[in-house]
Amino acid sequence: MPADSGIAEAASVLRTGGLVAFPTETVYGLGANALDARAAARIFEAKARPSFDPLITHLADAADLTDLVGPVPAAVAALVERFWPGPLTLIVDRPAAIPPIVTSGLDTMAVRVPDEASARALIAAAGVPVAAPSANRFGQLSPTRAEHVVAGLGAAVDVVLDGGPTRCGIESTIVDARGDRPVVLRLGALPVEALVEAVGPVSVRAGSSGQPVAPGTLAAHYAPRTPLVLGAAGPAAGDGGRRGFLAFRDRPADGWAAVEVLSPEGDLTAAAARLFDALHRLDAAGVTEIVAEPVPDVGVGRAINDRLRRAAATWH
Ligand code: TXA
Ligand code: MG
Repeated sequence: MPADSGIAEAASVLRTGGLVAFPTETVYGLGANALDARAAARIFEAKARPSFDPLITHLADAADLTDLVGPVPAAVAALVERFWPGPLTLIVDRPAAIPPIVTSGLDTMAVRVPDEASARALIAAAGVPVAAPSANRFGQLSPTRAEHVVAGLGAAVDVVLDGGPTRCGIESTIVDARGDRPVVLRLGALPVEALVEAVGPVSVRAGSSGQPVAPGTLAAHYAPRTPLVLGAAGPAAGDGGRRGFLAFRDRPADGWAAVEVLSPEGDLTAAAARLFDALHRLDAAGVTEIVAEPVPDVGVGRAINDRLRRAAATWH
């Protein structure tokens, strides 16, 4: 149903323990009442998500943060002040009101205020914090349109609010700012450069090997069903297969069975907004392999390359 007119009904579904998919500025989320352990459990079931992968709690307003968790460290408060509402998820101590299933048993909680009016209206109308991962099956492409949610999760969701394509198209940046120097746990729609400008030096731990701190940072993730490799737009012919090409700005020479160009203007923000939609289309094009060209590794381009590397690391 439309994101604006469906809010009252969707809010009551949330309050009574149901699942509502809703647009945010990043990707569509699969929401449940974050105060209700049984509702949160339904998210893990619907996504076939492993229970070790904690959820992000969404609030309607930055002022709701201290009501829920009490005082936060000064650096966290500074980031809230500067970037909320927006595509920045922050790590705070888990308050007692949030059941451990939401945080996969961690004593920390990821939290953000989305910069999408209908999402904030939904959360406000529900009157509860809303736990919401991306509204896709675990490990698969993230949804940037309501159609992606319906195709991926179907009947497992009680209500899908349709707000059209999402503005950023890539997930929020996750930052742990509780220590001396903020640590980026997942590259995302808020560029690292913007964080550095606001709070000085940060460490980037996203993409490091070893025990993942944020399982969106599992080596294999965000994957189409079709095998994806990173590469350049060389000649497509040769193996007789039907291959698809994901280009950044320049259309490759003929020979590819399907081509998606992320931004003919070479604009990284526009490319991020189209990334998952283009991958969904290539995945539906009946090709045997997708070749994806890395984008310039600056700004939100780093998050795009991060998603492409993880898609390429997925075993088929
Ligand atoms: O843009 C977004 O963040 C979207 C929209 C819906 O808000 N949500 C999203 O959720 O991307 P999800 O579940 O796909 O990714 C959440 C990430 C996971 O990688 C998870 O491991 C990490 O957040 N996370 C959650 N709680 C955490 C915690 N306490 N410490 C570290 N990482 C955490
Ligand atoms: Mg996800």
